[in-house]
Amino acid sequence: MKAVIFDLDGVITDTAEYHFLAWKHIAEQIDIPFDKGVNESLKGISREESLESILILGGAETKYTNAEKQELMHQKNQYYQTLISKLMPKDLLPGIGRLLCELKGENIKIGLASSSRNAPEILKRLEIIDDFHAIVDPTALANGKPDPEIFLTAAALLGVSPADCAAIEDAEAGISAIKSAGMFAVGVGHEQSMLGADLVVRNTCDLTLELLNEEWEQYKIKSF
Ligand code: BG6
Ligand code: MG
Repeated sequence: MKAVIFDLDGVITDTAEYHFLAWKHIAEQIDIPFDKGVNESLKGISREESLESILILGGAETKYTNAEKQELMHQKNQYYQTLISKLMPKDLLPGIGRLLCELKGENIKIGLASSSRNAPEILKRLEIIDDFHAIVDPTALANGKPDPEIFLTAAALLGVSPADCAAIEDAEAGISAIKSAGMFAVGVGHEQSMLGADLVVRNTCDLTLELLNEEWEQYKIKSF
């Protein structure tokens, strides 16, 4: 294992909850029911695709002009940015700070593959941006998760072959993207929603370099 590539929202910090609150705020304004179940299917998905999914759900896919959709996304992002403006280093999810230290200690490269345009701002607020050797710019990609492009781009930026990378995700679309990229996939969450992952942990506090190395060895033996 020469590199570990992280998703951000729901893996490094609990901003998945903030995306939920911000979309709920917008959905209520336009009278579309929105709950955690619906939100689950939006995890890892871009802002544009998330709005389209919400509008389809509410039977309102043709109701808004492009300019109106832009305005809804702008409002969602403003609400979201108010929430992330309060993030601090203590808002790292449990175990993530320790894992970053362990990876740095072993000279394992660290990358970020987040679909969020707010990712650099969040890493700065958490005071971990300097730990990352590569941060993919999602606006430069042709395809979002579950396409593997974001993880393959991260590996290329790190100068590491995909076969030597592990990647960590909390979303189904993300796990599919990691597997299509030919990487070792680590899921954080419930076993049922992490189908295809090579290793599933219930919480980020279970993510240690020792566990990743052990499971990596097993995975490499099985892959031969
Ligand atoms: C992903 C989140 O990381 O980023 C999605 O899981 C979100 O919920 C997407 O829609 C885009 O984020 P942003 O900050 O660019 O709107
Ligand atoms: Mg996520």
